[in-house]
Amino acid sequence: MKNTIQQFLKDTGAKIPLVCGPMYPGSNPELIAAVSEAGGFGVVQPVSLTSLYGHDFREGLRLIKKLTNQPFGVNFTIFGGANKKYHQQMQEWMEISIEEGVKYFLTSLGKPHAIVNAAKQHGIKVYHDVPNKKVALAMRDAGVDGLNCINWRGGGQTGIQSAEKFMEELHDIDIPLICAGGIGNANDFQKVLDMGYAGAQLGTRFLATKECIITNGYKQAIVDSKEEDIVWTKKIAGNNSSLIKTKDIMRGGLRTGPVINFMLRQPKLKKYARMYLMSKGIKNYSKTTFDDSVQFWQAGKGVGNIKSIETVSDVIKEFSQDWQH
Ligand SMILES: Cc1cc2nc3c(=O)[nH]c(=O)nc-3n(C[C@H](O)[C@H](O)[C@H](O)COP(=O)(O)O)c2cc1C
Repeated sequence: MKNTIQQFLKDTGAKIPLVCGPMYPGSNPELIAAVSEAGGFGVVQPVSLTSLYGHDFREGLRLIKKLTNQPFGVNFTIFGGANKKYHQQMQEWMEISIEEGVKYFLTSLGKPHAIVNAAKQHGIKVYHDVPNKKVALAMRDAGVDGLNCINWRGGGQTGIQSAEKFMEELHDIDIPLICAGGIGNANDFQKVLDMGYAGAQLGTRFLATKECIITNGYKQAIVDSKEEDIVWTKKIAGNNSSLIKTKDIMRGGLRTGPVINFMLRQPKLKKYARMYLMSKGIKNYSKTTFDDSVQFWQAGKGVGNIKSIETVSDVIKEFSQDWQH
């Protein structure tokens, strides 16, 4: 087995280097537990766990621990000073995660330095989402243990470059690289490991599982969609988000208006524009989780290779069988 894969398995405690990434919606505790129990690695999305699925944060982590004794991670989206209330809440979630024995943090956006410092004191590994080489090198220098390379085929907020370009630019970096985006089946998984990645983070494939709490219409749309049915819009989060082309998505158009465009171009205003768009996006996504008539369905280009709604254990068995290591 390649050293980087071994390192990633050691950092996570997983048996196969396959992560179920944090998702709003989608990251219900039952899904996270099922992924870790089957040998993969589930990552908690704290806002999903609390606001969407209605668990107290600590009780939600305890529920996952009741469902599996395998390790899992927690994701922290860092908005810096743009939202003080959220920042305090994130700090509290981090302290609870440490108390509950979580050993893997996945950080997104912002600067993870304070989280890295706190994590190191407790033997916790930190991986960070990166969109390109510049951010990757800055995060490596900030002391993170690994990098989640978010490529342009992914569901949710997408990256801007291909999995191949990440590998071309970062192949000699000394920490594990995880490929996030566009992996729909075992063949896609093996391809990115062959490219040199230490593991893969999936979202869309795990949405179409029995354990995931989203509507059946959403799951079926993932199975029925082709790669060409995925569209991008900046309307949800200020940078590209990938969604299935539905009437609800196309009704208002995919483009942002002139005021938001202006704010997104100004470094000082950008984070406020993004906070505004995300709070609206979160409302739409929360409706779509439980109501089939609201079709704001995020998904990545891996949809073309997802052919059925399965149990998590069947998905992970399929990926494990072909895994050559
Ligand atoms: C419905 C959905 C919601 C997501 N929400 C988040 C999120 O809240 N935070 C985050 O860091 N990533 C989020 N992601 C990204 C996933 O964690 C993962 O990186 C991505 O889905 C991988 O691409 P794939 O969907 O093509 O497998 C989301 C993805 C999807 C599909």
